[in-house]
Formats: sequence, C-alpha cells, structure tokens
Amino acid sequence: DWTMAEFRKTKIAEIRAQVGDKRVICGLSGGVDSAVAAVLIHEAIGDQLTCVFVDHGLMRMNEAEQVVTLFRDHYNIPLVHVEAEELFLGGLAGLTDPEAKRKFIGKTFIDVFEEEARKIGGADFLAQGTLYPDVIESVSFTGGPSVTIKSHHNVGGLPERMNMALVEPLRELFKDEVRDLGRELGLPDAFVGRHPFPGPGLAIRIPGEVTKERCDILRKADAIYLEEIRNAGLYDAIWQAFAVLLPVKTVGVMGDGRTYDSVCALRAVTSTDGMTADVFPYDAGFLTRVATRIVNEVKGINRVVYDYTSKPPGTIEWE
Ligand code: XMP
Repeated sequence: DWTMAEFRKTKIAEIRAQVGDKRVICGLSGGVDSAVAAVLIHEAIGDQLTCVFVDHGLMRMNEAEQVVTLFRDHYNIPLVHVEAEELFLGGLAGLTDPEAKRKFIGKTFIDVFEEEARKIGGADFLAQGTLYPDVIESVSFTGGPSVTIKSHHNVGGLPERMNMALVEPLRELFKDEVRDLGRELGLPDAFVGRHPFPGPGLAIRIPGEVTKERCDILRKADAIYLEEIRNAGLYDAIWQAFAVLLPVKTVGVMGDGRTYDSVCALRAVTSTDGMTADVFPYDAGFLTRVATRIVNEVKGINRVVYDYTSKPPGTIEWE
C-alpha cells in the first residue's frame, strides 16, 4: 500500500529525529496497536528500544504467552516480561468505581515502566500505541459536551513526577490504518486481524470488584465464546466480541439442584473506528449454543444474556 509505505518512511524519520541516541521503553499490551508501534520504533532505532510486556493478570486466556512468543521468537525483539498480577489485583481489591479502577491501572502501569526503565539504566522516552480515537474520546465525546467518557489509561500524558517524554507514532491513525501499517511492516495476518483489547483488560469487563477468581471465571467464558465465533467463521466480520461478568447473581436449576451464580453478558459489535458501533446480529441458534456451553462448562455462571445496545448510547466496553 503506497500510503502506508510513505507513512512508514516519514514516521521512521520522525522517530529518529525525536529520539536521537536516547533510550525508549515501549509497553506492549498484547493488542495490535502497541505491537505495530513497537515494530515501527524498532525499525527506526533498533536496540535503543526495550519492549516491556506487563502481565497484569487481566489478560484473556493464553494471551500473555502469545505476545511473548510473537516478539521473542518471531521478531527477535528483546522483551522484558513483568509478572505483575499480584501488584495489580492487590491494588484493585476493594475498588468498584469504573474510573477509580481505570486510574489505578493507568498509574500502576507507569510505576512498572519507571521501575523497568531504572533497571536498564534509565529511558528518556515512553512509547505507546495511542490511536486517534483514544485521543478524542479521552478529551470529549463526538458531537457532545466536553466531558471525559472514560480515561483511557494510555492517554492524557504522564504524571509530572515522571521524566520520560512520550513517543506515540500512531496518534493520527484510525484502527483500519494501523492494521494496514501492521501488514506493511510484515506482522502476521492473524495478529493484525485481532479484535481490539483495552489496556485495563478484564478489569473493565468485571463490573464491581475484580478478583482473581472472577478473572478466571471470565477467562473461561470468554474463551468459549471466541472459540464458537471462530468455529462459525464470524471472527473477521465482528469488530470486537467479548464476555462480561456481572456482579449479579440469579437463581437457576441444574440437574435436580438449585444454583445461585453470576450472570455473564455477551457483547459483539461491528464498527470501523470504535467511535460508533452497531450490535452484531447473531442468529438465535448461535447464541443458544454459546449460552448452553458457558452455563454447562463454566462453574460460577448460570445465566447468559446478550447486550443489544449500540454505541451511542452505550459504549463498547461496559466500564
Ligand atoms: P468504548 O468502551 O469507549 O471503547 O466504546 C472504544 C474502543 O476503545 C477500547 N478501549 C480502550 N483501549 N485503553 C485502550 O487501549 C483503554 O483504556 C480503553 N478503553 C476502551 C475498547 O475496547 C473499544 O475498542
């Protein structure tokens, strides 16, 4: 693609000019955006870049391994893998307010990056895969009053105490353009086509308090849902699909016993940039199959509902 080939060249020159001979630390989230940013920056400055993958324990099933494999084995880009589940889940204990959860996660990411930067003898820049819609939505809502809808953890600058400047080469791009750039940079198709996954991870898909037990329950339900989507050949037709674990228990019956367990909501939307979204119109048979599997296979869930809300007025994520 001509446009992306040009963009790649221009950005590489800009990154070199901005960074000079200094060190950059880049946070990988497992998503497409940070991966594309990392590969682009690596092309620009080589081993002046250190990639850090913070495993906050809020990833989906097997996600951490996939990221580490892609970078270490496929790209041969050095990667620091930080196990920070206890740090994140410890701090999330007792937090139920969506913004409080987001802010804690954002701040803790910065703490971890600072710590890792110290370990490599200091870094002058922090790289992030921030996209244009992230920038807009953290500032104001399209066409509406200027209020913060959600504080995207990777937007909004850095705390003043932090002495790293930001490198954000994707700030002008929309998701479909980042995917084009990813292909241009040779990232595997399956990776480039992945559904977006938010930095705060499963924490914002577990309304109420986040615990390890609830993360584990959600991971199982989400994996079943995505497996069925892939089996039905629907993955690429959907912008984003995921399960949400609600802090609501309902009564059910299994065998000849009463159950009293959590509700799982399924979400799937179509979109071109995440700024607006429509509900994906599954056929009833598909939803019945997924609901049956989740209730039968995931201990802790006894009811499954489908979210029929478009954006606006809903947002894609529940928090
Ligand atoms: P919402 O829920 O605001 O989401 O309609 C729009 C898109 O942004 C993703 N999202 C995030 N991505 N950090 C991210 O990197 C975040 O804090 C964040 N919050 C939401 C969401 O998954 C959807 O694709």
